[in-house]
Amino acid sequence: MLVIIWNQKLTVRMDNRLIVALDFDDLGQVTQTVRELSGFVSWFKVGKQLFTSTGPCIVEQLCGAEKSVFLDLKFHDIPNTVGGAVASAVAIGANMINIHASGGIEMMKTANRSAEEVSDKLGISKPKLLGVTVLTSMNQATFQGDFASSRTLSEQVAYLAVCAQEAGLDGVVASPLEIEIIRKRCGARFWIVTPGVRPKSSSLGDQKRVMTPREAIDAGANQIVVGRPITQAVDSFQATELILEEINK
Ligand code: C5P
Repeated sequence: MLVIIWNQKLTVRMDNRLIVALDFDDLGQVTQTVRELSGFVSWFKVGKQLFTSTGPCIVEQLCGAEKSVFLDLKFHDIPNTVGGAVASAVAIGANMINIHASGGIEMMKTANRSAEEVSDKLGISKPKLLGVTVLTSMNQATFQGDFASSRTLSEQVAYLAVCAQEAGLDGVVASPLEIEIIRKRCGARFWIVTPGVRPKSSSLGDQKRVMTPREAIDAGANQIVVGRPITQAVDSFQATELILEEINK
């Protein structure tokens, strides 16, 4: 059970544009981070590491603590299997779900239909369904080398974003460096969530296509995902506060 007791002095306001990635496998660390940031972070991301170790109860607990959950499981399988996985994700209360756009248009359409059907049945609003384009841990060289692709990385991202939009998805997960081309092709209402965000003072880790939080918002990101610069910081509260100050400047 996530019990949130709030006692820190706040200097910045709650901001839905920041999603904090809870990349932990230990419920104790999750509870501590959520408790620490609860006064100014409303969105948290549950990814493969945490979900695999705790199971769906982590989503239910965060929702029970009135937090919004981006369930980042990046489904990629045959359409019927992904449709079923998305149905389960909607049923446990995820507010945003993602699937790999490279799984194909039929897979994305089936996933979208499934999200609509389950939401209707449960009488809840449909969570945002996003397509993952190309992981932000790849750069031009690794993308073209690993996939023997003649397309450039940004052409591939734009192509997958257009496919996701055609399949009825609400938006995509993409690097901040590709926001401009996605906006051009998919328009202003398409939802763009960007990981690969690094405040100037943080290390890159395995991320290769990065921008600062302010640059990502200025480039047109609707929401940014930040993990290690907050969760591995000596003072997570202060690291979050600095990011929020920066995006609100
Ligand atoms: O620690 P860091 O800020 O790099 O965390 C970024 C988070 O966003 C990780 O949980 C990672 O799985 C996720 N992510 C990503 N690139 C994508 C999609 C999700 O880095 N294309």
